[in-house]
Amino acid sequence: MARTIAIIGTGYVGLVSGVCFAEHGNTVWCVDVDQAKLERLQRGEAVIYEPGLEPMLQRNLHEGRLLFTNDLSQAVRHATVLFLCLPTPPDADGAADVRAVLETAERIAHIVRDEGIDQLRIVVTRSTVPVGTAAMVRERVHALAPAADIRVASNPEFMSEGNAVRETLTPDRVVIGTRDPEVIAMLQELYRPFVNNYDRPLLVMDEKSAEVTKYAANAFLALRISFMNELSVYCDAVGADIELVRTGIGFDPRIGRSYLHAGLGFGGSCLPKDIRALAQSARQAGTPLRLVEHTWQINLDQLRRFADRIRQRFGGTISGRRFGLWGLAFKPNTDDVRESPAHKLIALLRAEGAQICAYDPEAMTSTRRVLGDQIEYASDMYAALEGADALIIATEWAEFRNPDWQRMKSCLHGNIIFDGRNLWQPSEMEQLGFEYHSIGRRSVVP
Ligand code: UDX
Repeated sequence: MARTIAIIGTGYVGLVSGVCFAEHGNTVWCVDVDQAKLERLQRGEAVIYEPGLEPMLQRNLHEGRLLFTNDLSQAVRHATVLFLCLPTPPDADGAADVRAVLETAERIAHIVRDEGIDQLRIVVTRSTVPVGTAAMVRERVHALAPAADIRVASNPEFMSEGNAVRETLTPDRVVIGTRDPEVIAMLQELYRPFVNNYDRPLLVMDEKSAEVTKYAANAFLALRISFMNELSVYCDAVGADIELVRTGIGFDPRIGRSYLHAGLGFGGSCLPKDIRALAQSARQAGTPLRLVEHTWQINLDQLRRFADRIRQRFGGTISGRRFGLWGLAFKPNTDDVRESPAHKLIALLRAEGAQICAYDPEAMTSTRRVLGDQIEYASDMYAALEGADALIIATEWAEFRNPDWQRMKSCLHGNIIFDGRNLWQPSEMEQLGFEYHSIGRRSVVP
């Protein structure tokens, strides 16, 4: 049965979840404090760059199943299930700051109490929150509205940017953290169109395990990447090729092929934040997670090592050197630059006096907002190379893979490429006459 639900927070997780719930026939109240954003959403603008989202948003708006408001009380009045999709930014220690989640839960409790709502309300934590958050939410709402029937559950999301709509509509799994039979039944009903019994299960567990599952998933992905990045340094030292090793291990079904790409390391709004939060939570629990701690350190080292390599190539100083940089987004197919390795590399190079002229198919505007005129922005990928001492690849956009080599040579000051994403084969670059440095593979110097 289609339900009326609420999504509190129309960020990445909230907006995609809300639109997908509406797509399955539910009426979804989307609440946010950002009035300008709500107006854009109301006009059918997706606000974020996410394939497939905008047409689905427009269709469901048109059908009247998506309602945008800054008035939380409207949502609480109408919706049985309220998904909290609020930011949990890192504090100074790296721990996740759950104030927005707790404050919103308290506001929900006030509304339920003050308006005398006596039907069931289920508050679901959907954004990534540290273990124990659902319990804290429960404690707060029960203290404020002891007579109300408010239940709390955890339901972490696992979507990745660029694939969020597909991953939400056809998730690998849905994790529900609660032992409350009524809540399980309600969430099972809501998720029925998204899951099946053979390869897209709905997994019910206790809420703490659900909360840890989310961090464990992201930490494990990060760990795989850092493992490969650390191994790439070893491959470099002993003359092996990390790309061949990657395929050599990836075909083992116990290992699998994804998340084994060595490069400049992982970025984005989740992996870096979540592994630091997990590490901090584990330290607090008196059970430090050593692998997780090192995962982060290796990620930082990988970038520094790449910058060192560039410096060494130019005789120990890059002051006054000019670099063309391809890729600013933290990964391809997004305009998101949060914790982008490209941005971190820019900071390292600029700190040593280098000039950067960058190009990215989607992330120029988002970068300009952060870096302003610290770098130059090229009108296309070749313009970024005009007069540059070298090309640096920081993000593996598909359109960089098959460039016009002659045009590159005529734009570049020399013929040097530092490829932080292993786009090309060293042998190919040898034939083309480039000096080519990549990750965990032999360098080519003509
Ligand atoms: C991630 C998780 O995949 C998702 O499940 C979670 O809900 C949120 O965090 P996302 O932040 O969109 O999603 O990025 P993801 O595609 O996982 O990539 C993270 C980073 O790892 C990127 O910077 C990417 O370039 C890097 N990466 C990924 C590698 O360096 N090597 C790889 O093999 C894979």
